[in-house]
Amino acid sequence: SNYKVGYFVGSLAKGSLNRKLAKALVRLAPAELKMDEIAFRELPIYSYDYDADYPKVARDLKTSIAAVDAILFVTPEYNRSIPGGLKNAIDWASRPWGQNSFTRKPSGIIGTSPGAIGTAVGQQHLKSILSFCNSPMMNAIEAYIQFTPDLISDDGLVGSKSTEEFLRNYMTEFSTFVGRVLSVYPRATA
Ligand code: FNR
Repeated sequence: SNYKVGYFVGSLAKGSLNRKLAKALVRLAPAELKMDEIAFRELPIYSYDYDADYPKVARDLKTSIAAVDAILFVTPEYNRSIPGGLKNAIDWASRPWGQNSFTRKPSGIIGTSPGAIGTAVGQQHLKSILSFCNSPMMNAIEAYIQFTPDLISDDGLVGSKSTEEFLRNYMTEFSTFVGRVLSVYPRATA
């Protein structure tokens, strides 16, 4: 069957390495995965003062998450955590209280950085956040991608055969994982 996957690119930078990685993942995903980006750039900084009256941009975020079967986070590590913009988006989506968009929504985490440990520490933070948000996460396989020059082009073409195979397999495993979670927690369709 087909699964809808919404993906977040954790970086807002024009030349984002993680956006290149996301493009590669979209290319390499098995045909049953329908991949769509979930944008968060325009969100104001969250506070619970908004809870009584969410702005349209935040309602759109929650609607986008509700419309997908699973979420994929493609994110850099900033200061050994996730970028503030991504955390802000997660905070918006997790609220108002009782309307957490991540509840029972399967997720995967992947990221790239020029550093040798390839976002490993930031991913641990994200796992902690998503675990509190009650999102079933794919624990294995893990993907810590060290970005070397020309590893992935702006269009998402992967310059290394072994990395390409690794990323293809990651998406295949993710699809299997999503199917397994949905067999337990089917997505409520409107
Ligand atoms: C970084 N970078 C970085 N890299 C890393 O491996 N661990 C880290 O903790 C950090 N911290 C960090 C903080 C801030 C504020 C910036 C701007 C950068 C380097 C980072 O991996 C590099 O800039 C990548 O290009 C970020 O990915 P995107 O934004 O290009 O997708």
